[in-house]
Amino acid sequence: MIITDAEYVSSAVDLKGCPKPHLPEYAFIGRSNVGKSSLINMLVNKKGLAKTSATPGKTRAINHFVINPKSKAWYLVDLPGYGYAKISKDVRKLWEGFIRSYLRNRENLMCIFVLIDARHEAQKIDLEFMRNLGKMGLPLAIVFTKCDKLSEGQLERAMAAYANKLSEDWNELPPLFYTSAETRMGREELLQYIDDANKLFQA
Ligand code: GTP
Ligand code: MG
Repeated sequence: MIITDAEYVSSAVDLKGCPKPHLPEYAFIGRSNVGKSSLINMLVNKKGLAKTSATPGKTRAINHFVINPKSKAWYLVDLPGYGYAKISKDVRKLWEGFIRSYLRNRENLMCIFVLIDARHEAQKIDLEFMRNLGKMGLPLAIVFTKCDKLSEGQLERAMAAYANKLSEDWNELPPLFYTSAETRMGREELLQYIDDANKLFQA
């Protein structure tokens, strides 16, 4: 898929505030600071489209972007990171509530890309989050981020260990992608996956 244009659409704090669900939609989620916004900007070739920062917790709403608005358009969504320690319990509850409601009820959602920092061992919070998506019957794929920080050998070992851990929960593993916002690794594979899924969308 060639990306010709990407535009910010809106930021919502609930399902009602989201744009009309007439386009196929892909959500990006993961722990705070995992590299969601960086990955989105790399995918769509637009630095600064999704705001990135070294301080976790920057993304605070359901942010919609429309990709290729003039032909075969689709929505890309940047969601707040989960598991961010430095916010109050009340704020966290509120976020978790609206994210869950969005994921469960958004009818045009084609895939939830769960981002995992390739450098870290499997974390309970991520495994649990994915398990819940599976229980709700929601389509997910795993995107390993920051792969440039590991050597080829390290990456291979880390990914084998992760897949091993996942197989405790999953009979069949979800699709796995290996990416880097720095080197643009994995970009073509992700866009191809989205392109294929777009063809299955029925408005
Ligand atoms: P929140 O919205 O705050 O939850 O963060 P986020 O998940 O959107 O992460 P963001 O894209 O803002 O990136 C967090 C930090 O990781 C920044 O300092 C990025 O420069 C860095 N980073 C993101 N992706 C990569 C990558 O592929 N490689 C490397 N080396 N650094 C990355
Ligand atoms: Mg972000």
